[in-house]
Amino acid sequence: MKNLVVHPVKRLIGSIEIPGDKSISHRAVMMGSLAYGTTHIRHFLSSADCLSTIGIFRNMGVNIKQAGDRITIQGKGLNSLKPSKKILNAGNSGTTARILLGLLAGQPFTSRLTGDKYLCRRPMKRVTAPLGQMGARITGTDEANLLPLKLEPRKLKGITYKLPVASAQVKSALLLAGLFAEGKTSVTEPAPTRDHTERMFSAFSIPYSRRGKKITVQGPVSPFKGRNLDIPGDISSAAFFVVAGLLAPQSQLTLKNVGVNPTRTGLLEVLKKMGAHITVTTKKTRKGEEPVADITVYSSNLKGVEVGGEVIPRMIDEFPILAVAATQARGTTVIRNAGELKVKESDRILMMTVTLKKMGANIKPTDDGWIIQGPTTLSGCSLSSGGDHRIAMSLAIAALIAQGPTTIMDTVNIDTSFPGFSKFLQKVSRF
Ligand code: S3P
Repeated sequence: MKNLVVHPVKRLIGSIEIPGDKSISHRAVMMGSLAYGTTHIRHFLSSADCLSTIGIFRNMGVNIKQAGDRITIQGKGLNSLKPSKKILNAGNSGTTARILLGLLAGQPFTSRLTGDKYLCRRPMKRVTAPLGQMGARITGTDEANLLPLKLEPRKLKGITYKLPVASAQVKSALLLAGLFAEGKTSVTEPAPTRDHTERMFSAFSIPYSRRGKKITVQGPVSPFKGRNLDIPGDISSAAFFVVAGLLAPQSQLTLKNVGVNPTRTGLLEVLKKMGAHITVTTKKTRKGEEPVADITVYSSNLKGVEVGGEVIPRMIDEFPILAVAATQARGTTVIRNAGELKVKESDRILMMTVTLKKMGANIKPTDDGWIIQGPTTLSGCSLSSGGDHRIAMSLAIAALIAQGPTTIMDTVNIDTSFPGFSKFLQKVSRF
């Protein structure tokens, strides 16, 4: 129950080296643990979520050493994981739980997987149902919808599956199960979602194909070797400072070495449409590596925008902070097709409506988004984050431009994705 008190700022100035990408850090540990030989990871995100992933693989016998943001994994190959004596615990991390279900379903031993009280409320059937079609045996409450879940060893067979919702976690779970299954596993996504798993496959020389919206792996795959991985800064963490720099007066912020994979940059596109002054300086990366850039933002007058359709999955984690930006934009912002926000770490449609309303914003929830009228003056007050890291950080940014101090309650979970967030905020704030 850690509270964060945020005071309004005069301006924001400076530069920040954004910590490593959460999605890529998880996948790096998973793939390094399945490879044989050494995998070195640089700029790993040492956040609670990613440490949950490391803990799980250590429990399955993988030798993983950590020194700050450097990780060394001594992998013993695709079929080297050992049954854990303990129940595996994904903590608050939906990505760990969902992707891991795919990986565990293909193992020749029984596993049990659980998470914290927030994760145990989040739907898992989206993964366990298609894994069931592949032959997996997974049991748990509400027809294997809720953690804790038990996975028993079964031989998997490849399937062709059309994702009912655009979800990189579900896609990745099925592709990882596909590595251990007999035959082809094909996943078709309704709209492009983050493709970090596919890029990891390329990095580890695991063959796969993409034709339009369909991604296919042929299992069981041959053993693959460990390698060195550099993780870019997390654009979903940079997003809070991007919006902060746009909203605070006379501000200029540079966010260094941020991953700008096009499946993640929806927020930048939407903000530019709103009139944001943002420059993106792309850096040279080696072929097949994740693209990286320095992003500089300048205070801007924003206008309302309509957001919906294919961009939604490319900015799915950025809606709480977009809602904050919309309260300061001239005119109406309408966000549609974002019903997935209801099943994130909290019901984000509800949480942002309640909290921003309390600060004085004109925000109406809809079934799959919001209608936000701006600009409105925000007032500092006392707010609950509902234990959701991205709600807590979005409210902290709103508080920078509010009148009077804001107290945000229950902020420990900021550490699940962005350790050091308030330290960075202090560093660039001028009062
Ligand atoms: C993630 C995918 C997204 C995102 C989450 C990370 C991933 O979830 O919200 O923070 O790493 O694959 P969904 O797949 O549920 O959309």
